[in-house]
Amino acid sequence: MTAVDLGLPLPSLIPASRAPAPVDGPLRDTFGRVATDLRVSVTDRCNLRCTYCMPADGLDWLPTDGVLNTEEFVRVLTVAVRDLGIRTIRFTGGEPLLRRDLEEIITRVSRLPERPGIAMTTNGLGLGRRVHGLTAAGLTRVNVSLDTVDPARFAEITRRDRLADVLDGLAAARAAGLDPVKVNAVVPDRSDLDGLAALFGFCLREGYQLRVIEQMPLDADHRWDRTAMVTAAEILEALRHVADLTPDDVPRAGAPAQTWLVDGHTDAAGRRARVGVIASVTRPFCGDCDRTRLTADGALRNCLFAENETSLLPVLRGGEGDVDAAIARLWRENTWAKRAGHSVNSGDFRQPERPMSAIGG
Ligand code: GTP
Ligand code: 5AD
Ligand code: SF4
Repeated sequence: MTAVDLGLPLPSLIPASRAPAPVDGPLRDTFGRVATDLRVSVTDRCNLRCTYCMPADGLDWLPTDGVLNTEEFVRVLTVAVRDLGIRTIRFTGGEPLLRRDLEEIITRVSRLPERPGIAMTTNGLGLGRRVHGLTAAGLTRVNVSLDTVDPARFAEITRRDRLADVLDGLAAARAAGLDPVKVNAVVPDRSDLDGLAALFGFCLREGYQLRVIEQMPLDADHRWDRTAMVTAAEILEALRHVADLTPDDVPRAGAPAQTWLVDGHTDAAGRRARVGVIASVTRPFCGDCDRTRLTADGALRNCLFAENETSLLPVLRGGEGDVDAAIARLWRENTWAKRAGHSVNSGDFRQPERPMSAIGG
């Protein structure tokens, strides 16, 4: 696929292979994009086993000593915010709440003078118990993954009977004043479109902002099938059965979700309710991408679908001299090598080795 196919702005005339990466300033790539949004996977482990993400028996987890510890995460995130222009950090997993030190990491990052926005994407299990500590630490936004409000279907999709816990987590997030509280839904099968309507109704009643995601080829089992994938057009049609939708008036900027205003409904804060669709496959948004990623074992990824990554472990654990400067240099080089976009829609697409759960979405 070419950049033009993706609806990208015309790429810069200097390909990454020929021009050297910048030695200072923010995280730029050769297409003029600047990464200001960092997604941090703090663990690859999860306490659910969603069929579109993980096998029933889980995966070979990263060895504990290969995962960044509290000090290492704080060090890398400090370089990102202080030296590389990162403005927002989203903690993901696996399931980020499985890290007991999440509150400490967030506390220390939110004390940086350039204080970034701090968000989390979680499956919601245990959120009720942690949400006050997390907001006190500096968390400002949360997205909770929830595909259905039918308990039996929830247990089928996640292979765990935990719907009530997720709903408690959502309610606790709203009560703690996190705003907005977003719900991320994947639609595993066309037969789930009726259930999607019920989920949308639930979110409207509770004041949560639903976003429905096209399934991406990042499942550990490599079972993703384009013809089976429920498309954004099908999703939108199902949503329109529930309520009238008006295209949103807020600029989308680099956000993955395209949003609509939901006529006749308000959210938990009394604003017009919104609903979003994340059409990563049928309407890629790579031209506006402002993201960079850090995995739990300290690898930088310039794209969800990146085939190459840069491990920070050698400099973090064995580096001599100015380790922070070395981290910044590796990060600028990693970003400079970013491609125009993903190639899911082209013939030569190769699924990355890391599954979604080890990248962090
Ligand atoms: P907001 O800041 O609230 O809009 O969050 P978000 O949508 O960026 O993050 P979230 O973790 O809730 O992700 C929702 C879905 O968007 C997941 O399926 C992610 O994998 C997907 N997503 C997030 N960032 C990217 C991206 O850069 N590219 C693609 N293709 N999908 C992404
Ligand atoms: N495609 C799209 N989204 C996915 N998620 C997990 N696996 C996939 C996939 N294959 C979603 C989760 C979570 C977010 C981080 O990514 O439901 O909300
Ligand atoms: Fe950015 Fe890659 Fe996602 Fe495209 S697929 S929006 S380039 S991270």
